[in-house]
Amino acid sequence: MRDTVIVVDFGGQYNQLIARRVRENCVYCEVVPYKKALERIKKEGVRGVIFTGGPGSVREAGAPSIETEIFALGIPVLGICYGAQLMAASLGGKVEAPSKKEFGKIEIEALPGTLVGGVTQKSFCWMSHGDQVSALPEGFKASAFSENCPYAAFEHPEKRLYAVQFHPEVEHTPFGSELLRAFLYEVCGCAGDWTAEDFAEEEIAKLKAELEGKKVLCALSGGVDSTVAAVMVHKAIGDNLSCVFVDHGLMRKNEGDEVMAAVKQFDLKVRRVNAGERFLKKLAGVTDPEQKRKIIGAEFIAVFEEEAAKLGEQDYLLQGTIYPDIIESGVGDAALIKSHHNVGGLPEKMKMKLVEPLRLLFKDEVRKVGRALGIPASVVERQPFPGPGLAVRCLGEITEEKLAILRESDAIVRSEFAAAGLDKTVWQYFALLPNLQSVGVMGDSRTYCHTVGIRAVTTNDAMTADFARMPYEVLARISNRIVNEVKGVNRVVYDITTKPPATIEWE
Ligand code: XMP
Repeated sequence: MRDTVIVVDFGGQYNQLIARRVRENCVYCEVVPYKKALERIKKEGVRGVIFTGGPGSVREAGAPSIETEIFALGIPVLGICYGAQLMAASLGGKVEAPSKKEFGKIEIEALPGTLVGGVTQKSFCWMSHGDQVSALPEGFKASAFSENCPYAAFEHPEKRLYAVQFHPEVEHTPFGSELLRAFLYEVCGCAGDWTAEDFAEEEIAKLKAELEGKKVLCALSGGVDSTVAAVMVHKAIGDNLSCVFVDHGLMRKNEGDEVMAAVKQFDLKVRRVNAGERFLKKLAGVTDPEQKRKIIGAEFIAVFEEEAAKLGEQDYLLQGTIYPDIIESGVGDAALIKSHHNVGGLPEKMKMKLVEPLRLLFKDEVRKVGRALGIPASVVERQPFPGPGLAVRCLGEITEEKLAILRESDAIVRSEFAAAGLDKTVWQYFALLPNLQSVGVMGDSRTYCHTVGIRAVTTNDAMTADFARMPYEVLARISNRIVNEVKGVNRVVYDITTKPPATIEWE
């Protein structure tokens, strides 16, 4: 029986992050809403339980809770933040609102011979709590404390119950991963033998059962997410999956052909629509960034619908939605999760059900699954590329001439990044055209040509970003090549702004 850890969801914002940390340790896990958790935990194979944080207060009537029976099952439990308070309150401890609340980086001191003490002595961790435990339940002992929190962590090792007021799952708790690993391996006794191959295999089996005899339609963009999702569904239902690849003419150099070549090896049924002219016609004369996005979105739907109609009735729309695309709102025991769709408005309009096999994965996990499925590195390692394509990098009116300059410049940027090995470390890098012309001199003559911008950022999740500290030699080579090789450009600039206040894309 496979080792399983159940993450009991009390509505905290880091629930999926906890699940991800468990998976990182090669342990299978499921996030289960608190109301259904006990039933699930009692099933075979459950080695451990983790209580998430949550916005509630155990001092309030009706706050999320779980039957106390859970603590008598002999299965190890780790309570995090709200989960720690709940454990204490359920077993006779006391939870109060302290006079001084703790938010952010807080230093704690751990006690030796405890779970936390086994991975750190004195260290910073991430706290974010109003309430805190003021008296421990019988049999428990403190395992860490901070200046204002006497029970920053506590435990009852004989009963294998552990609790931490801080968040071990976030990066700001540097010893957090090690703590979770100790809980999973040493306390729960998990073997740590679950892999991305297992994930792919299990998900494909689930898809097979769910989609048996159904027709599924996929808007394939050639990006990592939609390609991995399509390959998975294709392995589950074969040619009952039809893919439509709308080439809106706003792709990078040779990208359309590369996408088709990459998916060909998987025998996917893909219909390519070259709709560039159509998009450019609609975009003629439009300069407002939001309007451009809207036009592209609407035209995309129109083209996609036309193609879908040719394929006959379809039951499902496959989307490569991944976890960061999902905005969580509230406790996950009802339909409270709102999806942010890349293909805005399509599912509602076409009256199809949605299938999103990657919805609980983070980007790097999608890449791991992609590799496990044998998808080539050229697709799996691809940097993110926005749905509206080069349109968000071509400021002002979009014309074929400007797009050509942008495409050639971008190809140079990408090839020089690869040549310098920077494609492995820089998260996203590209050329953009700020719609700016300036004076230059070339061969003794005055020029008045385009400026090309280079944007290269490092980030973990694209929510915040820093500009990449590029070696000057690489910047110099890119600049030199662009002004020499791309007609119509006489100046190259490097964007040195962080996000916030700027964004990664310029539009
Ligand atoms: P910003 O510019 O908001 O970009 O800092 C954050 C990340 O999102 C990508 N991006 C998009 N992706 N459709 C997408 O699929 C879009 O409309 C879109 N706009 C931005 C951007 O490339 C960066 O990785």
